[in-house]
Formats: sequence, C-alpha cells, structure tokens
Amino acid sequence: MRAIVHEGKNGLEGLSIKDMKKPEVRGNQVLVRMKTFGLNRRDLAVTTLHDSDAEALILGSDGAGVIESVGESVSQWKVGDEVVLNPGSGWKHKSEAPPEGFEIVGLPDHGTFSEFVAVDSEHVERKPTHLTWEEAGVLSLAALTAYRAVFTRGKLTKDDTIMLPGIGSGVLTFALKYAKAVGARVIVTSRSEEKLEQAKQLGADVAVQTEADWNEELKGEDVDLLIESIGAATFNKSLDIIRKGGTVVTFGATTDDEVKINIRKFFYGQYNLLGTTMGSAEELREMISFIEEHNIKPEVDQMFAMDDYQQAFEYLRDTKNFGKIGFTV
Ligand SMILES: NC(=O)c1ccc[n+]([C@@H]2O[C@H](COP(=O)([O-])OP(=O)(O)OC[C@H]3O[C@@H](n4cnc5c(N)ncnc54)[C@H](OP(=O)(O)O)[C@@H]3O)[C@@H](O)[C@H]2O)c1
Repeated sequence: MRAIVHEGKNGLEGLSIKDMKKPEVRGNQVLVRMKTFGLNRRDLAVTTLHDSDAEALILGSDGAGVIESVGESVSQWKVGDEVVLNPGSGWKHKSEAPPEGFEIVGLPDHGTFSEFVAVDSEHVERKPTHLTWEEAGVLSLAALTAYRAVFTRGKLTKDDTIMLPGIGSGVLTFALKYAKAVGARVIVTSRSEEKLEQAKQLGADVAVQTEADWNEELKGEDVDLLIESIGAATFNKSLDIIRKGGTVVTFGATTDDEVKINIRKFFYGQYNLLGTTMGSAEELREMISFIEEHNIKPEVDQMFAMDDYQQAFEYLRDTKNFGKIGFTV
C-alpha cells in the first residue's frame, strides 16, 4: 500500500511515497481504508524528531475512512462503517492531564498517511454525518485541541470575550467557530489582511494585525480568555492584553518554546496560565456532538493528492493556509 513516509534525511527532504506492507487486523483491531487525512504542524515537526537513520515511518495523526475488516473480538463496528480516527491513544476520560502512556499517533508508531490503517477499535469514532470526506479527514486533531482549550480548560461562556492570535491556524479556526456558536465575542489577529477578512466572514467581531500594538488597537475591550499557540513571538503581548484575572490557555509554540515573563506583573494581575494538549476520547466524542448540534464544519483551505506531499508540507510550513489542509487518497 502507498504511504507518505519519512526516512533517510532530516526534515522535509526525508519525505517520500513508499510502498509499505498492508497491516493485518487481529483481536480488537479494525482496518480502515483511508479516504482523506489532514496535515498538522506536528507532522512537520516529526520530520525532524524522527531519527532519519531509523526505518521508514508513516507520518500523520488525522484521517477518515471506511472500515474494511474487523478483528475477531470487535463487536461495535462492522465492515462499511464510516469513521474518523482518534489522533491520540491511551487517554479515555476527561481529566486534568493525560495519563502515563498517552501518545499522539504518527510517532513513535506509524501514523495515518497511507491507504490502510489498522487501529484499536476504541480509537475510531463515527464520522459526523454532516461532514464531507474532506472535512472529516482534517477534523480530529485540530478540532479536539480547540475543544479542550476553549471549553474544558478555558471554560468559555457566552458572556466572555475570547482572543485568538494567529487566526490562520487550523486549530484556531475551530476555536472561532465554537466561540461564535456559544455567542461569545471574538477578537482575532493575523499577519495577513486577507486572513483577517476571512475571519470576519466567519463571524470574528474584531480583527487586528498580529504586529500591531494590541493595547492601542483594542482599547475598551476586556479579554477574558486568550488562546495562545504562536509562542515566543506573541506570548508576552498575549499576557499583556488579557483583563486582570483573565486566562491564557496555551498549546503551541510555533515560533519558539522559551519566553521570559515578568512574574511581578503576572501575580499583581492575578492572571491564570493553563497548558493543554489535544484531548481525551471522551472530549473527542463531546466535540463531535457539539459540531453536529451547531452544524460546524472544518475550514478546509485545500486538499492535495498524496503525490503532492512536498507542496502540501511546504504550504503549511510557510503558513499559507487559512484553516486546514489535507490529502485525498
Ligand atoms: N499541544 C497540542 O496538542 C497541539 C495540537 C495542535 C497544534 N499544536 C501546535 O499549535 C500550533 C498551532 O497549530 P496549527 O496546526 O493550528 O498551526 P497552523 O495551522 O500551522 O497555524 C499557525 C499560525 O500561527 C501563526 N504564525 C506562524 N508563525 C508566526 C509568526 N512568526 N508570528 C506570528 N504568527 C505566526 C500564523 O497565523 P497567521 O497566518 O494568521 O498570521 C499561522 O497560521 C503549532 O505550533 C502546533 O504544533 C499543538
């Protein structure tokens, strides 16, 4: 079976399409014939995290497809069922942090960017009925991360103002749609005027340039909750814009991991800083029910053919996307 793999060279140069052994299912596993899969920033990172001298690794955490066969002890799924894959494993119930053993699909074990994927039957969920295959394939990782960040950790309510710096992000386009679904006020930032316009069309109430002086541009706004994923480039601006007693939820460091903060200013402001990472299977199911209830669909920028993997990875690396990109098998 064809798969997008990493081996041989560090970074994107180590990417190729390779013929890999089709997995066999046993016991509690299901075999999914993949229709689509979404590309995440993590897949870019895996091309440097995976040892290039090790065996070829199939990349990818996201995907959607049809069950092709089931192991002998599977009772909840049958051949022909349409499913999305859980991008994580080992985290069943909503909890403060994932238990020991939680892993993101696609490193160290093989991921989803192939024609067939064998997974534990607990690691698939029914495909939301209102989504196309393209939308379903790019859903799980970003939509789950946004759901936990906004609701489980951020506890957003309709009376809150939420701020989303770097709205081109796949995860944050979900956060924007969730926040508007519950009736919250939404402020977004981007380095791109075009993306700010796109965000306004999705319901953003206020849109400002990421490089602007936020305190100047957002005079009179009370930011209750800010979802931070850019990292070093914006982290201090983010802490500086929330109201006293407000909350920053962080899950990403696209620019850099290390930041210096003024803790005196932080404790006088009585701020809250919360980390989050993806989410549990319970939250994945909650998220699916939530998007069905509110008819929320992923913002699909574009889909690529598997053979165009280089273009797709470069498109995401260069942050040309507004929302999600992915592959059609
Ligand atoms: N911990 C987790 O579970 C988890 C889950 C998902 C993602 N993540 C991480 O969270 C981050 C966002 O993920 P994503 O998939 O949504 O990313 P993405 O689609 O690649 O979007 C990243 C956005 O960050 C902004 N950005 C990038 N470089 C910037 C810079 N130098 N200055 C200012 N803004 C910049 C851009 O927004 P504009 O183009 O609008 O300016 C870009 O669209 C990534 O670092 C990812 O690895 C973590």
